[in-house]
Amino acid sequence: MSSQGLESSTASAQDVTPDHLAIAATPKRFGLELQARGDARELAIDGVPLRAIVEAVGTPAYVYSASHIAGQLQALKAAFAGRPTLICYAIKANSAQPILRLLGQLGAGADIVSGGELERALAAGIPGSRIVYSGVGKRPEELDAALGAGVRGVHVESAGELAQLAARARALGVVAPVALRLNPDIDPKTHPYLATGLRKTKFGIPMQGALELALQVARTEGLRLVGLTCHIGSQIMDAQPFLDSLARLRPVIDSLARANISLDYLDLGGGLGIPYAPGDEVVDVASFGRQLVDATADLGMELVLEPGRFLVGNGGVLVTRVIGHKRNDERAFVIVDGAMNDLVRPALYSAHHTIVPAVVPGDVPLVRADIVGPVCECGDFFARDRPIPWPAVGDVLAVLGCGAYAMTMASTYNTRPIAPEVLVSRGRFAVTRPRRAVAELIAEERYPEWLSSLA
Ligand code: LLP
Repeated sequence: MSSQGLESSTASAQDVTPDHLAIAATPKRFGLELQARGDARELAIDGVPLRAIVEAVGTPAYVYSASHIAGQLQALKAAFAGRPTLICYAIKANSAQPILRLLGQLGAGADIVSGGELERALAAGIPGSRIVYSGVGKRPEELDAALGAGVRGVHVESAGELAQLAARARALGVVAPVALRLNPDIDPKTHPYLATGLRKTKFGIPMQGALELALQVARTEGLRLVGLTCHIGSQIMDAQPFLDSLARLRPVIDSLARANISLDYLDLGGGLGIPYAPGDEVVDVASFGRQLVDATADLGMELVLEPGRFLVGNGGVLVTRVIGHKRNDERAFVIVDGAMNDLVRPALYSAHHTIVPAVVPGDVPLVRADIVGPVCECGDFFARDRPIPWPAVGDVLAVLGCGAYAMTMASTYNTRPIAPEVLVSRGRFAVTRPRRAVAELIAEERYPEWLSSLA
């Protein structure tokens, strides 16, 4: 490496503990194991080395750990044991069918935000009775499909949407179960794009109008008020913002009780966070559960939670191969074959993802480098100014924390087909979504017959 003229960068990187050594203390947090391979060690998921998976499917690829995902759900369920609670997995985080089926088999429901997600959840075997339908806008045909599937609740966000839902319910001759999504105006102190419970955002019904709208639901033919709901944001590390939301919702619940309107459920949304860097805090899920169970003990209704990232975020990595190096006066670059179309979070939210070599290197000098993809955008980076053991071309890197909002936010920008997905469990793995060929992308399109007349 020193022969590559990176000395200045190297010097400033030597004082830090590199991530591959830092995660060795707690690899489980990131859904990983370290396996011995001769004298070296390598990263594995559920007993399978990443190397073996890459040999089979190539790079880039998303690799998911069934045991991590199942374990997260079990931990959350255990934290709420003894209190009627339904965990509706926010499937926008990762809507891979096998993951939906796995979580559904373990008793989870689904939080959906589109007709497409409804179809996915039903196809995975999650019954309508365990599905809640969130989102700030819903088309009439999506409402019809949700009512037809018998969802547990449609989470309504405005008076206009309420009127539309009532019309659809009457047209279909059914009673629509309604939960009002309130905006409690709570600041979860997270990335501005991820704070959805503030008054200035597009989400939810303002608190001032909440009671009146709830009473209106109860009076409207074709509607039944089944709950109240809120979702204040993402990557929240403790119970306090949820308790604050509950405190804001309580007066509405109490007023409804005085009007003899009882609710089936209270939904406090999703948003539980995960560690992305080795030193990040970890949610104490038992304490989180205890606090919410205590705070809701007097409410005779089911509690619904909508976690996405918490269940799957650290149950997945993106494996990518180094395809080149580059250096200018300012910086060193490691060029990999994964890109912002596979993982947009660094570009969109300046999100930090830990990046470690799939085979733990020996005594390789650390270099501060930008880890970038081949897409023609300055925003196409996975990390900036990151101390990493300088990799060779051909080495495989694992981008951690890619179980949530990686594949589901992927695109085919730069005509890069969506990367394959692999699910690993107990020493075996399956390619659950094969790599798409560029030819398939092209074959999806049509030339209008009049196009040649424009020549
Ligand atoms: N419920 C509702 C109504 C939501 O809007 C969301 C996420 C969730 C539940 C699940 O939130 P979670 O538990 O996963 O934090 N793309 C961003 C995250 C956007 C979240 C949008 N709503 C990211 O990559 O961080």
